[in-house]
Amino acid sequence: MSARPRSQPSTPRFEGDAVLSVRDLRVAFPGAEPVVDGISFDLAPRQVLAVAGQSGSGKSLTAMAIMGLLPHRAEVTGSITFAGTELVGASESVLADVRGAEIAMVFQETRSALNPVLTIGKQLVGAIRANSDASASQAREMAGDALREVKILDADRVLESYPHQLSGGMCQRVVIAMALACGSRVLIADEPTTALDVSVQRDILTLLEQLVRDREMSCIFVSHDLGVIDEIADHVAVMHTGQIVEFGPVRQTIADPLHPYTRELLSHLDSLVGEPAPVPVVPDHQASTDPDRGCDWGHEDCDGDTELFTLPGGRQVRSCLYAPQRYAPTPTMQEVTR
Ligand SMILES: Nc1ncnc2c1ncn2[C@@H]1O[C@H](COP(=O)(O)OP(=O)(O)OP(=O)(O)O)[C@@H](O)[C@H]1O
Ligand SMILES: [Mg+2]
Repeated sequence: MSARPRSQPSTPRFEGDAVLSVRDLRVAFPGAEPVVDGISFDLAPRQVLAVAGQSGSGKSLTAMAIMGLLPHRAEVTGSITFAGTELVGASESVLADVRGAEIAMVFQETRSALNPVLTIGKQLVGAIRANSDASASQAREMAGDALREVKILDADRVLESYPHQLSGGMCQRVVIAMALACGSRVLIADEPTTALDVSVQRDILTLLEQLVRDREMSCIFVSHDLGVIDEIADHVAVMHTGQIVEFGPVRQTIADPLHPYTRELLSHLDSLVGEPAPVPVVPDHQASTDPDRGCDWGHEDCDGDTELFTLPGGRQVRSCLYAPQRYAPTPTMQEVTR
């Protein structure tokens, strides 16, 4: 890749109205560097946007910020708008209206989304009634339908069960059913298969894929595993130390990663869906000890420029390798003779 296309700094954007827009989102805990450090993206209707990155890169905190579920001591700035409503700094009642009814979340720890002391039926019926005008008996019927829709055949037994009586995969199906029954428009799935047995990982992924497609939902799919992302997502935002370092269509990004970190992440990928997925630990992007060199990703003449540049076609990359003033493409013969 010698000649780089001309690029310019900007924010990821989609054509048309975004369902969810995140702008310059920062999350910091008191006395520490930001752990989410100025990220921006749009989630388009029916889009599956993956957020990739190694452990600690800020994926879950981004998801929790959208859900308004960060601890109170977290300092959040920037903007998250859902259907015209600003969620950063919104009151608990505004967030409660959006959570579940509009944006649902499937967590990595399957049981954490379920109340251990209530039956699945009580929880599902409660969630449905909180988000609709359904009567108790209608809600019970809707709960059974939602469980059958996520391929739970013995729905009546499951409705009477407590979370601890169900397997992890079954609990994950229940949480997905809850999102369906509430008619959520956006699903945030944070490593939804990592805690599950290998044998059920693929079932849950297939289920998520089908539901997002059939219900025309938008989805933010968090994973460290680019193999899984390749199967499920349209676009991917690769995060490193709280920043998006690469953003683009999944196929292109995986076939031709632009950022050195994405390449590192891919080189640690020896798992695809159905096999154990170890969390990769990629060496950190260290500040160089050489004052003439700002970056330790291996580009010899990097000056530490860290803007997110947009290339023709819309792919984005945060690397000095793509800065227009330093790495403008060699003009074509046509341009020279014009
Ligand atoms: N409550 C907290 N207080 C202080 N720091 C936190 C808190 N929660 C998370 N962090 C820090 O923020 C960083 C990002 O955390 P986050 O949970 O978003 O990572 P992640 O990308 O989801 O990682 P993983 O793949 O392991 O789930 C980490 O360094 C983590 O230690
Ligand atoms: Mg996480």
